[in-house]
Amino acid sequence: MRRVIVDTDTAGDDTQALALAVLTDRLSVEAVTVVAGNVSFDRQVENAKYTLSLVDSVDTPVYEGARSPLVKSHEHATEIHGEGGLGGDLRPETGIDSAEGFAPDEIVARCRESPGEITLLCIGPLTNLALAHARDKDLPDLVDEVWVMGGAVECRGNVTPAAEFNVWADPDAANRVFDAFDVTLVDWGLCLRTALDTDTLAEIDAIDTDLAAFFREVTNVVRDRGEAAGLDGITQPDGLTAALLAYPELRERVESYAVEVDEREGLTRGYTSVDFEGVTGASADTRVVEAADAERFAEVLLGMLRERDPDASLA
Ligand code: RIB
Ligand code: CA
Repeated sequence: MRRVIVDTDTAGDDTQALALAVLTDRLSVEAVTVVAGNVSFDRQVENAKYTLSLVDSVDTPVYEGARSPLVKSHEHATEIHGEGGLGGDLRPETGIDSAEGFAPDEIVARCRESPGEITLLCIGPLTNLALAHARDKDLPDLVDEVWVMGGAVECRGNVTPAAEFNVWADPDAANRVFDAFDVTLVDWGLCLRTALDTDTLAEIDAIDTDLAAFFREVTNVVRDRGEAAGLDGITQPDGLTAALLAYPELRERVESYAVEVDEREGLTRGYTSVDFEGVTGASADTRVVEAADAERFAEVLLGMLRERDPDASLA
């Protein structure tokens, strides 16, 4: 069982990643750290706690981290996730206290306490990880793996033509993380290629469970937008990243490249430059997941929503 810290800007798709990470037998979620991103920070914190309560995991500590990017200002993604991040109306107040301590400090402490044993699943902007690295430059040698949902590899972005949201929101942090850590990257392009199609969404609509109802609630805005844009289905970036971490059998092709980020303000802020030909001289230490099994990902999600068992289809 892989020990994991989930670093999240908890809104729609983050909730599904968090639920999957908790419910699969493949992962053990030891802490959740919250980072500025999708919606207001305090809402994200509540969204994380609420999601943990839905999967009977209120004992998992939630640490509060960076409330803003390292340098840049950023806008929330409420147009994707709804005002509160859970599709619009749902704004739970759980009454659960956050754990004591600043998330970057906690990431360092836990990795120092268990060197080489903890994987970081980063499904929001990379501010907390960059701050953790600034506190302890040995962190790359103390973590097991670092998985990141972010970037747009050879595809248009989702927040600007050049950039994907997580990397755009804090490009300075992303660049530092790609430079310091050997990252496994699930980018926006892969999410588009493995979107949940309308047949899968119709199956989910027919599932009468609390988790399926929650999925429908938190994805209603992004579904409406997808339908309006003529897309066949919806992406689940963070859920896909959690599933690819948990289930190696879903990874169809992974290649290593040098990945660098444009930190400058302006048109190409957050652009992820991938050195396919090895011409930059930078070390090819980012493992890009280039292909994944979309059908088996859908089955994992259906198993989770139907019977709280994402592992069911892979047993
Ligand atoms: O671009 C998709 C990413 O940005 C996901 O992590 C989503 O939750 C938002 O944070
Ligand atoms: Ca996210």
